[in-house]
Amino acid sequence: MLESTNPRNQGLKRYIDHLFGHEDEILQKILENSIAKGLPNIQIPVHQGRFIQMLAKVHQVKRILELGTLGAYSTVWLARALPENGKLLSIESDTKHAIIARENIEMASLSHCVEVLMGNALDLLPKMVRQKEDPFDLIFIDADKENYKFYLDWCLKLCRKGSLILIDNLIPRGEQIGFPGNKEAKYVYAFNQYLANHPLLETSLIPTLVDEEGRVDGLSISQVV
Ligand SMILES: C[S@@+](CC[C@H](N)C(=O)[O-])C[C@H]1O[C@@H](n2cnc3c(N)ncnc32)[C@H](O)[C@@H]1O
Repeated sequence: MLESTNPRNQGLKRYIDHLFGHEDEILQKILENSIAKGLPNIQIPVHQGRFIQMLAKVHQVKRILELGTLGAYSTVWLARALPENGKLLSIESDTKHAIIARENIEMASLSHCVEVLMGNALDLLPKMVRQKEDPFDLIFIDADKENYKFYLDWCLKLCRKGSLILIDNLIPRGEQIGFPGNKEAKYVYAFNQYLANHPLLETSLIPTLVDEEGRVDGLSISQVV
C-alpha cells in the first residue's frame, strides 16, 4: 500500500517549492485574481508549471493546445515558452472561468498569442479536426477526467509525429494506488491502462506533489511515435 499523503511528502513539497517554486508577480496576481473571483484552487502546482514550461521550451514548440483553462495559470506557464510567432489555444467550457482567464491573459500581456475558446472540448475537438486545424506540437489535457479517452483519441488527430501530449491528474485520491474508490478513479485507472498500451505513444507517468498536504498525483508525458 502506498499512501498518497504523509508528513514526508508535505516536507518534500515545501522543500521543492522553497528552492524551485518561485513565481513572478504576474503569476501571483493571476492566482489572486482567480481566487478573489471565486475560482476553485485546483490549478497545477508551481513546480509543475515550471516543468511543463521547460518541456515546451526544450521541444521548441510553436503551437500548443490546452484542454481546461480555469483561470489560465497553466496557460501562462506554457505560453511563455512560445517563440514570437507561436500560438496557444485553450478550451474552457465554463463561461465564468473563460472570462476570468481572458482577463488574466491580458494581465500577462499574452493576448496576442493566446486564445481562449469558450466551449465544450467534446464538441470543439471534432470541429477542429473537421476544419483541418494545423497540428499542435504540444497538447496539455487537464479537463474532466471521465472524458480523457475521448480527448486523447481526438487530440491524436491534431498531432504530428513527435508531438508531446501531457495529461494531468492520473493518480486519483485514495489510499490504495490502483484500486479505485469512486467513479472518477475508475475512469482514470482504466484510462491509464489504455495510455500505457497505446501503440502510437511512448509514455512516462511521473508522480507530482500537489496541494498543501503534499498529496501524490500523476502527470503523463507521451510522445507520438
Ligand atoms: C483542473 S481545471 C484546469 C486547471 C488549469 N489547467 C490550470 O492548471 O491552471 C479543469 C478545467 O476544465 C474545465 N472543463 C471541464 N470539463 C470541460 C470540457 N468538457 N470542456 C472544456 N473544459 C472543461 C473546467 O471548467 C475547469 O476550468
